[in-house]
Amino acid sequence: MITHSKIVLDEEDIAGAADVLRSGLLVQGKAVSSLEEEFASFIGVRHAVAVSSGTAALHLALICLGIGDGSEVILPSYVCTALLNSVHYVRATPVLVDIDPYTYNISAKQIEKAISKKTGAIVVPHMFGLPADMDEILSLGIPVIEDCAQSAGARFRGQYTGSLGRISIFSLYATKMLCAGEGGLILSDDPDLITRARDLRDYDEKETYTLRYNYKLTDIQAALGKSQLKKLPSFIAKRRKIAGLYNAGLEQVVSRTPSVPEGREHIYYRYVIPVDDPTGFIDKMREKGIVCRRPVFKPLHRYLNLPGYEFTDKVWSKAVSVPIYPSLEEKDAHRIVDAIRTIL
Ligand SMILES: Cc1ncc(COP(=O)(O)O)c(C=O)c1O
Repeated sequence: MITHSKIVLDEEDIAGAADVLRSGLLVQGKAVSSLEEEFASFIGVRHAVAVSSGTAALHLALICLGIGDGSEVILPSYVCTALLNSVHYVRATPVLVDIDPYTYNISAKQIEKAISKKTGAIVVPHMFGLPADMDEILSLGIPVIEDCAQSAGARFRGQYTGSLGRISIFSLYATKMLCAGEGGLILSDDPDLITRARDLRDYDEKETYTLRYNYKLTDIQAALGKSQLKKLPSFIAKRRKIAGLYNAGLEQVVSRTPSVPEGREHIYYRYVIPVDDPTGFIDKMREKGIVCRRPVFKPLHRYLNLPGYEFTDKVWSKAVSVPIYPSLEEKDAHRIVDAIRTIL
């Protein structure tokens, strides 16, 4: 069976985590602070704070921007519920907008229409590893939280995603670009935002009381994150090689292979293609020993029973994600192309 995603942990990753275990110092400590420094320096941002998940990172990013009751937060409908949850955690009002049907990213034009006096922030996920249209989005003048859970290492006009918005978040969940099991990071050039996030992630030994969280990352996870970060460029190179092979093999059988507009560097966290009958396609691929999935389980407007969202619905009704990960062997990638060609 070729799985849809696969964790790539080598002996170096395991040794890093084992060293922490042997040290007996497991909680947030030296490995966490060095992950923060190394990650911020890699992305090209001044400061980073490590937390327990991407969702926790989003939650704290919203608080740090002062978003709460009475604020509106703009986000795309075509995304997982983690984003919607984080907006609800701070009691703000989510304002869902449609996507660009070619890039699957939030549409700058739709954001513009959704802006009101209450808009406090826009959450911009770079979907499937392709940077969103940051020039247009940043020109709107609203604070942007870049959601880089799927885009670690992707670049927009030469700059890494996560270095463009007011604040950004990353996920270290097992199947993301970097695997620590669970984990997240908040990045910003603004020292005040970062000081606040650092304070809020830990409740203990504070002089004054305010609502704080237990969002700490362990040193075991940080050690994994650190050694995975060293491999990120090679992970991306492997993903791009597989994507190139898929593009060449599928161009003639699918209506569109993933778009990469000028100035953007895709890292292919997911390789998504449109097919007429996703459920039937996924079943047939499984019969051939290949696991494919819908890349977004259900768009947010469908959970909230909101009308509209034409492009989100169109994309969702066809999108299928096929296996892509650094350890996928070339012969298996060819097997996947052959299976798709036969089915379609
Ligand atoms: C775009 C996006 N944002 C946020 C998250 C949440 O990250 P985590 O699972 O680490 O909480 C995910 C996770 O799948 C995601 O895809």
